[in-house]
Amino acid sequence: MYPEITTPADYLDHYKKSVEDPGAYFAEVARSYIWIKPWHRTLEYDLPQGFIRWFDGGQLNITQNCLDRHALSHPDQPALIWEPNDPSESSRQLTYRELLEAVGRLANGLRQLGVRKGDRVCLYLPMIPEAAIAMLACARLGAIHSVVFAGFSPESLADRINDAGCTVLITADGFSRGDKFIPLKELANQALAVCPQVRHVVVVPRTGPYKPKNAREILWNDLLAGQPTQCEPEPMEAEDPFFILYTSGSTGKPKGVLHTCGGYMVWAGYTLRNVFQTRPGEIFFCTADVGWITGHTYGLYGPLLNRLTTIFFEGVPTWPHSGRLWEIVEKHQANVLYTAPTAIRALEMLGGDIPDQYPMTSLRVLGSVGEPINTEAWHWYYTHVGKGRCPIVDTWWQTETGGILISTLAGVTPSVPAWATLPLPGVQPVLLDDKGHEIPLDAPSSQGYLCIKSPWPGMMRSVFGHHQRFVETYLRRFPGYYFTGDGAIRDSRGNFRIIGRVDDVVNVSGHRIGTGELEDAINQHPTVVESAVVGVPHPIKGEALAAFAICSEPPLDSSALRSELRDLVIQKIGRFAVPDFIYFVPGLPKTRSGKIMRRLLRKILAGDSDLGDTTSLLDPTVLDAIRKIVEQDCKN
Ligand code: WTA
Repeated sequence: MYPEITTPADYLDHYKKSVEDPGAYFAEVARSYIWIKPWHRTLEYDLPQGFIRWFDGGQLNITQNCLDRHALSHPDQPALIWEPNDPSESSRQLTYRELLEAVGRLANGLRQLGVRKGDRVCLYLPMIPEAAIAMLACARLGAIHSVVFAGFSPESLADRINDAGCTVLITADGFSRGDKFIPLKELANQALAVCPQVRHVVVVPRTGPYKPKNAREILWNDLLAGQPTQCEPEPMEAEDPFFILYTSGSTGKPKGVLHTCGGYMVWAGYTLRNVFQTRPGEIFFCTADVGWITGHTYGLYGPLLNRLTTIFFEGVPTWPHSGRLWEIVEKHQANVLYTAPTAIRALEMLGGDIPDQYPMTSLRVLGSVGEPINTEAWHWYYTHVGKGRCPIVDTWWQTETGGILISTLAGVTPSVPAWATLPLPGVQPVLLDDKGHEIPLDAPSSQGYLCIKSPWPGMMRSVFGHHQRFVETYLRRFPGYYFTGDGAIRDSRGNFRIIGRVDDVVNVSGHRIGTGELEDAINQHPTVVESAVVGVPHPIKGEALAAFAICSEPPLDSSALRSELRDLVIQKIGRFAVPDFIYFVPGLPKTRSGKIMRRLLRKILAGDSDLGDTTSLLDPTVLDAIRKIVEQDCKN
C-alpha cells in the first residue's frame, strides 16, 4: 500500500512514523516503485561526514518507473503536452508510448556515440519536448545529465561543462522567448571553443532546417534515424549519481549539486503526490524551466512518476498578451498550476480582470515556489486564479533538497497566507540561534537559522567532484545538521514562515544569484578596483540587485561605464543577473579585518538612518559618501 496522506490525522500519523523510524516509513514508500533488485539497508548516515545512503544495494532505473509501466498500462495517455512560445504555432503531444519510444531511440543513438553509464552529458536547451526526451534518455543509459538553463552565458556554460567533464552537449539552433530571439547555437559555439573534451554536439533544429557545421556536430534527427525504439534500461545502484545541477552559493563558483538515483526518485514521486494530492491522469502545469530544479522535479520526473500529463511551456506568462498563462490552463485543462511569486506579482500588476475572463474550472490546486510569497499576492492568486476554490500550497525547498520539504498538503492541512506551514514526513526542521543551539518550541521568539536534523531521501549527496565543499558548505556550519542558508520563523503550532536567505545569496525573480559571483564579474572591468553587491526589496522580483563599485579613477561617463558593467555581467553570467542599480563609490564599509559589511549597504539603500554600531569599521566616513550618492541617484 502506497502511504497516502488524505486527512489531517493521516498527516500526524505519517509524520510520527516517519520520524520514529524513517527507514521503515520510506521503505514502504519505495516499495510502490519498480526495483530491478531490492535494497538490503534502507538508511545509513553520518551527517557531519556527508555520508548518506538510502536503499543501499537496491537497483533501479527511474525511466522504468516514469515510462515503461505507464506505457504498458496507459499507452495512449498523454505524458507531455508542449505549448510553444508563439500561440500561432501548434502545440505537440506525446503519449506515454510515444515518449518511451522517443527516449529509447535517443538513448540508442547516444549509446552509439559512446555514451555510457556515469558519463556526463550537458543539456543547453529551450523548453521543448526534446529537453524531456534528452533527460530521460540519459537516465535510461545511466549517464549523468547536467542541464544548464538556456539563459546562461557562454562563459557560464563553459564553466559548467568543464567542471562536470561533459563529453556530449545537446543543444538547439535557437529559439524565442516572448519577443526575444536567443541564438542558442552561437552562444554554445562560444562555450565550445574552450571545451575540448566535448566529443559530440547534438543539435535540435528548433527554428528550421539545420546543417551540421563540423565533424563534432550531429543533427538530432540524424542521430535518431534508424534507431530501434527499444533500449534496455541500465540497472543503477540506488546511490549511483543521477544528475548534476549547478547552483549559486555564497562563495566561489557555482556548485554542481549531485543527486542520486533511488532517493531522488522516491522523494520526487512522494512529495508531488502528497503535496498536490494528485491522481493519475491529471494535467500538471509547472511553469518552471527544466534548467532549474523545479523543472526537473515537478516539470518532469515527479509528474511522470505519478502518471500525470505534464505541460511544457516554452514561452513567458505575458507574451503575446497578458492572459497567456490563463489561456494555457484553459486550453489544456490543467488541474494544477505551479508557479513562482514573481510571475504572480507581475500578473497581479496587470489587474485581476484578466484572469477573471478565464473560468479555469479545471484547476484544483495552486502552488507557489522559489521565494517567499507576500500576503497580497497570495490573496490575489487565491481569488482571481483559483476563484476562491483552490487551495494554495506554498512549497519551500531548494536545489539541494531535491523536492519539497515544507508545505501545506493541498486541502489536507490548513494553508496560511505567506507561511510554508508544516514539514513533510521525514523532514525535521529546527531553528538554530547564532551559537548553534536549537530554539525550543516554546521559546517566546522563534526566529533563527533553518536547519534540518536528519537526511530525507531526496537530499543532495555531494558537490560533484568536491565532496569536501559539500561538507563544509552545508554540514559543518552547525555540526549534525544540514544548513539551508535560509532564515525562518516558527509559530507555537510548529508552522514555518521562510524569511529569506541569511547568506550572500540574492533571490531575484526566484533565481539564485551569488553576490560573490557577480562581484567577480564586475571586478574584471579594468577600471573597477573592488565591488560589493547586495539585494534590495523589489515589488515584483522579490529582490533586485544593487552593485557598489570603486573605480581606479572617477568615471568620466557614468552611464557608459554602467552599460559596460551590465554587458560584462551578461557575458560572464547571463542577462537575468544584471544589477538594477550600479553606484560608483569612493569606498566600501569594511571592518578592520577587511570584511565588507553588506548589511550597512542594505540599510543605506532602504533609507534607514539608524545604521547601528559602526565603530568596527575601518573608515566610517565612507557611509556618508555612499548615502549621498544613493540619495542623489534617487533624485535623478
Ligand atoms: C527560496 C527552488 C520562501 C529559499 C526550489 C531557498 C523560498 C531558495 C520558497 C532555493 C518558499 C524557495 N518560500 N522562500 N516557498 N521556495 N525559496 O535552489 O531562499 O532555486 O533557499 O530552489 O529559494 O532556491 P532554488
